[in-house]
Amino acid sequence: MELVHTIEEVRSRHDAARAAGGRVGLVPTMGYLHDGHRSLMEAARADCDFVTVTIFVNPLQFGPNEDLDAYPRDLDGDLALAEGAGVSLVFAPSVKEMYPDGEVLTSVRVRGLADQLEGASRPGHFDGVATVVSKLFAIAGPCQAYFGEKDFQQLQIVTRMTRDLSIPVDVVPCPTVREANGLARSSRNAYLSDAEREAAAVLKRALEAGVAAIEAGERSPVEVERRMAEVVASEPLATLDYARVVDAASLETLESLRGTLRLLIAARVGPARLIDNVGTVLP
Ligand code: PAF
Repeated sequence: MELVHTIEEVRSRHDAARAAGGRVGLVPTMGYLHDGHRSLMEAARADCDFVTVTIFVNPLQFGPNEDLDAYPRDLDGDLALAEGAGVSLVFAPSVKEMYPDGEVLTSVRVRGLADQLEGASRPGHFDGVATVVSKLFAIAGPCQAYFGEKDFQQLQIVTRMTRDLSIPVDVVPCPTVREANGLARSSRNAYLSDAEREAAAVLKRALEAGVAAIEAGERSPVEVERRMAEVVASEPLATLDYARVVDAASLETLESLRGTLRLLIAARVGPARLIDNVGTVLP
């Protein structure tokens, strides 16, 4: 496995891999890698001959009062995990390498999908994500790119952006990886104490309560969301940001639940703001 820091190096390694007939798989990350990322790398390894992981804490997707400076970083640990997962190349650029002019004048915005849920709580976040992911696609030219369903809204936005802009890459969704208590793996779990980590399992329980209500025949989104909120309220260490059930493709609110649904939740537990989601389908 090789570690490179420049766009030119990535392009030359990928040109060589493609010239040898290889399929290039890309796993974009912000580092502090965990089992969730490992599962993306393993999926990429299964499909592709050459797998590149990018590690870049992208300033464009953090708001002014968010955790950009505190975001956990551990390049040595990341390299060990990536090597163990059979990755070919790690691209860990500096901010200057990615945004040499300082100010970035070009922004990719996926209207509608980016404005609700996380987008409403974190204005501009998804413009930063879509911009850096389109840039990583332009740098790497991958055949396939791997994203976790844990960030479901991000996955929908990247998929739509790729289709709208005819970017020749298959976006491959990968299932959420969870800890034993149900908590979705996230780099931000590093902010949690043991007690908070236990408390954070309430997000998954709330989602399960929402699905159980739907399975029991509930068709009012407001009622399902109320059930989810009730579960979060039962955990003193958690504060709900939102609990929603929406159409999985458009992320829009339905008057009456039908079709392919996604239940999404965001809550603050101690110092961490956590998100999670699950899907369910109504016949
Ligand atoms: O999911 C993440 O880690 C980031 O949002 C991504 C896709 C690497 C873009 O910075």
